[in-house]
Amino acid sequence: MTTSLVTGATAGIGREFALQLAARGDDLVLVARDLARLEALAAELRAAHGVDVEVLPADLTDRRALGAVAERVASTERPVDLVVNNAGFSLKGSFLEHDITQEEAQFDVLARAVLVLSHAAGRAMRERGRGAIVNVSSVASFIASGAYSASKSYVTVLSEGLASELAGSGVTVTALCPGFTHTEFHQRADVDMSRLPEFVWLDAPRLVRDALADVAKGKVVSVPSPLYKAAVAALRVIPRPLVRATSRSAHRPSSVAGTGR
Ligand SMILES: NC(=O)c1ccc[n+]([C@@H]2O[C@H](COP(=O)([O-])OP(=O)(O)OC[C@H]3O[C@@H](n4cnc5c(N)ncnc54)[C@H](OP(=O)(O)O)[C@@H]3O)[C@@H](O)[C@H]2O)c1
Repeated sequence: MTTSLVTGATAGIGREFALQLAARGDDLVLVARDLARLEALAAELRAAHGVDVEVLPADLTDRRALGAVAERVASTERPVDLVVNNAGFSLKGSFLEHDITQEEAQFDVLARAVLVLSHAAGRAMRERGRGAIVNVSSVASFIASGAYSASKSYVTVLSEGLASELAGSGVTVTALCPGFTHTEFHQRADVDMSRLPEFVWLDAPRLVRDALADVAKGKVVSVPSPLYKAAVAALRVIPRPLVRATSRSAHRPSSVAGTGR
């Protein structure tokens, strides 16, 4: 029996991971702040799929709460086979407009939580000789757009490094790099995305299905859809000054690119 832990399971991409993992028969540990939503989802998944679902409410900006999640990930009595580090949010506007406490909270969720939980999972899984870690990064990890994209670069590079360290151990690490995806993400950041054409948007169910297929193949960097595969391939070869110039619009307050992705 496989047990999977998903952070940010109450909405969007994380909720979709929970739905698809439960449908394939995984037991689950669901992490997020909103206890009522966590419990409602847990009840739904138990009823629909007969799986065990633990609810672990945690604000990942809180070091003690994050420590409790890391302890759960590292448990030898109730091993976790798959960890999906997915929780995240972005801030409206540009880096220098934000209060530093807002930036620190974003950094704690996007980067520090991924660092701590990847470390806990990597050690525990290496000991058992099996397991998988999925770190939800972003196409933004390949551009230069504020602290959001810097944190996502950190997540992609951390995942690549850990994948190399764990090569041959039976444990895989995948950085999942979505582009714009229909979730609660932009609404929560109060960013109007209505100007973006529909063809750039991904749907969470397809995204997660493709991501799980890549995880099964042990892919280290998973980029969904032909559009974003082409964008990332281009961003890897375009001279960095040009990438910086195109990312610059993202520093304008409340611009579309200012969503941080
Ligand atoms: N949507 C996109 O266009 C897009 C594109 C690329 C990458 N991503 C990345 O995908 C991941 C998931 O985002 P999403 O689009 O699914 O967003 P979403 O629909 O807003 O869901 C975000 C999830 O993160 C949780 N979360 C936020 N802050 C938290 C905290 N302090 N502690 C614990 N949990 C917290 C939320 O749960 P609670 O509020 O219950 O805590 C929620 O379950 C993020 O890492 C995001 O950066 C998104």
